[in-house]
Amino acid sequence: MIISVYSAQPYDCDSLSEVFDATLHQLNFFNVNLNAQTAPLAEGSQAVCAFVNDRLDEPCLIELAKHGVRFIFLRCAGFNQVDLNIAQNLGIQVFRVPAYSPESVAEHAVALLLTLNRKTHKAYNRVRESNFSLDRLTGFQIYGKTIGIVGTGKIGAAFARIMRGFGCKLIAFDPFPSETLTDETGLTYLSLPQLLAQADIISLHCPLRPENRHLINAETLKLIKPGAMLINTSRGGLVDTQAAIDALQSGHLGYLGIDVYEQEESLFFRDRSEQIIDDNVWGLLLHFPNVLVTAHQAFFTKEALLEIAQTTLGNVEAAENQLHTDTRVTL
Ligand code: NAI
Repeated sequence: MIISVYSAQPYDCDSLSEVFDATLHQLNFFNVNLNAQTAPLAEGSQAVCAFVNDRLDEPCLIELAKHGVRFIFLRCAGFNQVDLNIAQNLGIQVFRVPAYSPESVAEHAVALLLTLNRKTHKAYNRVRESNFSLDRLTGFQIYGKTIGIVGTGKIGAAFARIMRGFGCKLIAFDPFPSETLTDETGLTYLSLPQLLAQADIISLHCPLRPENRHLINAETLKLIKPGAMLINTSRGGLVDTQAAIDALQSGHLGYLGIDVYEQEESLFFRDRSEQIIDDNVWGLLLHFPNVLVTAHQAFFTKEALLEIAQTTLGNVEAAENQLHTDTRVTL
């Protein structure tokens, strides 16, 4: 099969080339996002392989179909970037990678939490400048704190296991509570307002859907404990960034650690160090000393890259042979 691989970074080229047999499949790599303008690059390909910030909306899907594309292989779990109704109407099949090292994402959430708390990023710079003062590096003990987990699927469950190890009290909200996880970790399911009111640290691990866009907004932020920490490694659209900034400014939100940002599509996965970033909300966010931002790297481990490449190969083989697979995304 000929596959146009979009948003292809050097590490994607390496991991996919390692797993795919070049005598069976031709991979054409493009280091641009997939959208209606770039879709014609897929001319001659039966499939495209896309990532989180590609925009597979109606105009893009129509272009792809016009150029003969019949399959979309997402290199990610979330599929909020694909208009599934339109894909189905055009007869384009969509596949995804439902899990790629959920532990990697959970571990990154913990990295954000610990860095924000113990300020290791600031300590690193101070020590390198021979500034050994501890002034303003005070953290708090994680042991015994209440952790609120929003979404207890694969990543939320991995996060729960780690935080149980820290000796925390675990509370969670998920429309589909897991009895197994309750038995394993001793967590308690609550409603979202109850969770927000009780948690010292809130971590988001649910998918973004139209109905939960801005799950964390001005109203729900009012419910959180003063000084609480919010961690988001899920999707930027779950948080109303301006509302979070207002809550940080008033001091009600104590810390914010994010690996995802609602407007990240035009920013992340590129070196923009020589550019002026025309996004005032972004500028404001970076100005806070109690905000830590990483650029969608929670998944980024050797194990996850290999799993993405292997599952994508499995998806290509299933599509070619019209085999049933749970990784196919249907309405
Ligand atoms: P999953 O499908 O295993 O679990 C999601 C859980 O969220 C399910 O238990 C579901 O019932 C629950 N849920 C759905 N709507 C909810 C709501 N409104 N409130 C609370 N819970 C809700 O998904 P998984 O693998 O745990 O991934 C979670 C999310 O993490 C993905 O959807 C994706 O957005 C994000 N992600 C981020 C990565 C990164 O590098 N930053 C990498 C991979 C995933």
